[in-house]
Amino acid sequence: MKTDRKIVVIGSSNTDMVIRCPRMPEPGETVLGGEFIMNHGGKGANQAVAAAKLGGNVSFIAKVGNDIFGRQTLEMLKEIGVDTTHVGVSHDFPSGVALINVDAQGENSISVASGANAALSENDIDNAAEAIAGADVIIAQLECPVDTIAYAAEMAKRHGVTVVLNPAPAPREHLPERLLRNVDIIIPNKTEAEAISGVAIRDMAGACDAITAITALGVSTTIITLGSKGALLCENGDCIEIPSVKVTPVDTTAAGDTFCGAFCVALTEGKGLADAVRFGNKAAAVSVTRCGAQQSTPFRYEVDE
Ligand code: RIB
Repeated sequence: MKTDRKIVVIGSSNTDMVIRCPRMPEPGETVLGGEFIMNHGGKGANQAVAAAKLGGNVSFIAKVGNDIFGRQTLEMLKEIGVDTTHVGVSHDFPSGVALINVDAQGENSISVASGANAALSENDIDNAAEAIAGADVIIAQLECPVDTIAYAAEMAKRHGVTVVLNPAPAPREHLPERLLRNVDIIIPNKTEAEAISGVAIRDMAGACDAITAITALGVSTTIITLGSKGALLCENGDCIEIPSVKVTPVDTTAAGDTFCGAFCVALTEGKGLADAVRFGNKAAAVSVTRCGAQQSTPFRYEVDE
């Protein structure tokens, strides 16, 4: 279902250098026997691409470097149908790069050189004010400066836009109140929910306690994504568990991003929260059966019944 309702994604773009290795190296260890792939990544760009491939009307606000990676990223985003009017090119910083190890179980570990992503500023948000004001949903993550994200959320809220935050990677400090008070829906994974709430999640009861703590911070709707265990959706104190679609994972990189992109598409199509989570689960399940970040996210025909 195509809709004119607009999704604005604010966030990072990286080029992912991925080695699929038999197991994760220990500190100081070299593990041989890997395979290398390079593909487009970055949590923001992954979410923008996932949403566009699923039929969303998507604009991306981001910053890349004036280099080959930045140019390739812009080309690919345009090809997939993402509006790149507000993807700036920095002449001071290189494009973001992520080094990713994926083990035989499909688990990953990621380190990121943020480059231009870290230079996304309030001024860039001002330049994209019209796009934000005209959006139905904005979604942001935490790979760009948190003050910039808070500024964008404030602007969106002033215009009655639904604000979704995927607090990834897990914040190392408390998220500013200025950000949280403008977030309508927060979508953390287990680690991120623990970091934000201060509650250790060992089971569903722990996840519910974490949600109670997050609700107390001022966010009315929380969705904790729990990988193969599905997701826990909680709106104003009412929690429901939504199971995942069972698959054998090959690479879990960008599963959360695919979920977020799909979730936003479903929202703009008028689906309720639980159905939007089911749609996100379905899209994420397809993505983990394939390698890479953006190259693993599904097209619409792959998730429609
Ligand atoms: O969420 C996965 C993404 O995290 C990767 O694509 C990598 O670029 C990092 O940003």
